[in-house]
Amino acid sequence: MAKPKLLIPRKLTDAVQARAARDYDVVLNEDDHVFSKDELIAKSSEADAVLPCHSEHFSAEVIAALPDRVKIIANHSVGTDHVDLEAAKAKGIVVTNTPDVLSDATAEIAILCMLGAARRGAEGDAMVRAGAWDFWSPAFMVGRQVTGKRFGVVGMGRVGQVTAERARGFGMEVHYHNRRRLPDHLEKGATFHETLESLLAVSDVLSLHCPSTPESAGMINARTLALLPAGAILVNTARGALVDEDDLIAALKSGQLFAAGLDVFQTEPGGNPELAKLSNTFLLPHIGSATDQTRDAMGFRALDNLDAFFAGQPPKDRVA
Ligand code: DGY
Repeated sequence: MAKPKLLIPRKLTDAVQARAARDYDVVLNEDDHVFSKDELIAKSSEADAVLPCHSEHFSAEVIAALPDRVKIIANHSVGTDHVDLEAAKAKGIVVTNTPDVLSDATAEIAILCMLGAARRGAEGDAMVRAGAWDFWSPAFMVGRQVTGKRFGVVGMGRVGQVTAERARGFGMEVHYHNRRRLPDHLEKGATFHETLESLLAVSDVLSLHCPSTPESAGMINARTLALLPAGAILVNTARGALVDEDDLIAALKSGQLFAAGLDVFQTEPGGNPELAKLSNTFLLPHIGSATDQTRDAMGFRALDNLDAFFAGQPPKDRVA
């Protein structure tokens, strides 16, 4: 029997591409360029399945343009905000994601963002690199200590839980807001807040781990930032759309926030040049899951979902 044709629009690890080539008739994107909308439609239309990353936008328009041949979009990401799930459902296209496997790597980046923001990591690094470090005193480059402070988690899913666990390693007191309260063995003594507002009031560090949806868009804005304790730190390793960046900039300038550590932005790639001008930001280019180990695991998880689908089984991580 002919192997199903699989489009892989971005460069994945050698191990993932080798396994994909063993089991599928793969179409690769050798130079790893980002497909235009038309190219994404044209290339996907010749495949039975697509294994995209969050950089490929399967909007309602793109999905509507796909022929019936395309049966499954097996994402190489836990986030699925780049896929219009309702449009996929309506067209009978199965959609999967890659939960669990990137929680450790993303939690590491969240902690890096927290510490980088709290201890002025970007400012110090830039100063030493520029040869501009010409002074030292006990009053120099003083930051915020996180040990013993309150760590607020918005979205206590897998990544939120692992990040909370790492924060506990700094003696931080964990608070969280989630759609549902977690059972004791997952909550591990953290304090549940039924409302975001209640969580904000006690978050010396606020870390975002919820999905990006139309409801969560701009949830961090002038109103909600004002509810944080003065001098709080914002960490975002989830999605840029959760934060109103103009309001964030105003809060960073006014001192309402001490600093922000961000791995995600409203505009990607690129980020926000106004945030980059501020000395109290620690900024990374969406690399939460970018370790070789995790990239392998994400690719294998996406392939597991494809294998199940083409074997006539329900894929484990079906989201639509
Ligand atoms: C994810 O998996 O959602 C990460 O942001 C990388 O795409």
